[in-house]
Amino acid sequence: MSVAHGIRTLGVLGSGQMGLGIAYVAALRARIPVLIHDRSEVQLQKGLAFMDKLLDKDVNKGKISSIDAKEARERVTIIAPERGLSGFQGVDMVIEAVSENLALKQTIFRSLSAELGPEPILASNTSSISITKIAAATIPEGETASSEKGKKSASRVVGLHYFNPVPVMKLVELISALQTSTETLDRARAFAIACGKEVTTSKDVPGFVSNALLMPFINEAIMWLEKGVATRDDIDTTLRLGMNHPMGPLQLADFIGLDTCLAIQQTLYAGTGDSKYRPSVLLERMVDAQWLGKKSGKGFYDYT
Ligand code: CAA
Repeated sequence: MSVAHGIRTLGVLGSGQMGLGIAYVAALRARIPVLIHDRSEVQLQKGLAFMDKLLDKDVNKGKISSIDAKEARERVTIIAPERGLSGFQGVDMVIEAVSENLALKQTIFRSLSAELGPEPILASNTSSISITKIAAATIPEGETASSEKGKKSASRVVGLHYFNPVPVMKLVELISALQTSTETLDRARAFAIACGKEVTTSKDVPGFVSNALLMPFINEAIMWLEKGVATRDDIDTTLRLGMNHPMGPLQLADFIGLDTCLAIQQTLYAGTGDSKYRPSVLLERMVDAQWLGKKSGKGFYDYT
């Protein structure tokens, strides 16, 4: 039996490539009002401009009608940085899509819980960080993990992991924290399906299914480049043409963002202690140099 997601209004926190993509599919496919908040006004405006470009492109390709595009755009509203998280009052779910940093996410979820109370579902788009740790941060002050209010607060936290580019990639990975309720899981799954996605489920292990498998592959490719086993182009072409991957691992790392790849790799390494997850020194140095891939104009490839 299909479950109604009951999400009448969505809040999206973070207007980078992931947050923007999530807002796009929610407004266009799930057809619900979306509020986007970011601490940077510049980033918010950049995000909206990109959404306009995507909608125009889809109309020009005949994938959606101009009425669909107009309606989708009208469903998206910005919450200005100065309004803070209180701008999300009244939403049924918030999806957080900020950078991969546990302390930052815990602070955000603590504040979301304090501002919005126990009702809305609080989802994280994290690629690797423990949803259980994030859920524990939502327990209100004075409550405990076993008190009724504490349990209720943590039980509405879930991982909803979208893939980049969100409008194109068909998957959402659903991650249950130890504390997540069945109702939260069912509603989050139903919402991802309403966004046009297929859903797989993973336990709350470092990197979940997707990145526990993808990141060692990318990291190994970087180590092979570092060791001089093959050139950048030979590594990428081998995987593209030999295995029919849409992108080689080095190009994919640039596309994801080298800072994100490093953060995920560090979470895998710290969370398992397994040396197979040790980040490559070259990846660390490239992030030190602020060569972050496509978004910064330079990574394994140049994008200027
Ligand atoms: N936003 C929205 N749409 C985009 C886009 C973007 N940033 N980039 C490309 N597209 C769309 C194009 O408009 C095009 O749409 P149509 O089919 O309607 O024409 C479609 O994607 C294909 O694009 P192109 O023809 O320009 O280029 P391509 O065939 O080389 O495909 C790609 C581009 C879809 C990105 C493809 O290279 C690909 O699938 N790459 C692998 C992506 C991937 O693995 N993503 C997962 C990364 S891991 C992750 O996100 C999770 C994590 O936790 C790290």
